[in-house]
Amino acid sequence: MEADSRTPISPAQWPIGSEDQHSADQPLFRLDGRTALVTGAATGLGASIAMMLAKQGATIAISDKLGVDLTQTRDAVQRYQKAITFEMDVRYRDQVEKSVALAETKLGKIDILVNNAGINRPASGAGD
Ligand SMILES: NC(=O)c1ccc[n+]([C@@H]2O[C@H](COP(=O)([O-])OP(=O)(O)OC[C@H]3O[C@@H](n4cnc5c(N)ncnc54)[C@H](O)[C@@H]3O)[C@@H](O)[C@H]2O)c1
Repeated sequence: MEADSRTPISPAQWPIGSEDQHSADQPLFRLDGRTALVTGAATGLGASIAMMLAKQGATIAISDKLGVDLTQTRDAVQRYQKAITFEMDVRYRDQVEKSVALAETKLGKIDILVNNAGINRPASGAGD
């Protein structure tokens, strides 16, 4: 079967440097010494954001719901910077508080929060 060009590739499949393809040669900013926490980072936008922040120099705390595999994002991020992973369902305050405390223990204060976790609902329309 022919590959569907709309099917997103996983972070592990990204060639080094490929995420630069639409940016200028010089980075707009650097995040050396900063820490970032990205929720919903196993796939999609969260994985891409985690990768880009790491590339700019930030240490990353990567999280997703319980049981969701974060190894591909972690491996992609660790090409550039240290990354830690943890399970955190953003619907539950106790999980958020516990996980943020854990991230702060391991990385120090969190400078950047990317509250990306969520779902995409397909729009319903006349064609449905
Ligand atoms: N992709 C788009 O075009 C688009 C447009 C507008 C808004 N958004 C929003 O951006 C975010 C990411 O979109 P995406 O396309 O990358 O989605 P995606 O489905 O590819 O990834 C979402 C990630 O969030 C995780 N997640 C879902 N619920 C969670 C929860 N309760 N706690 C922790 N993690 C959870 C999933 O496991 C998944 O890894 C979503 O909030 C989405 O609503 C996306």
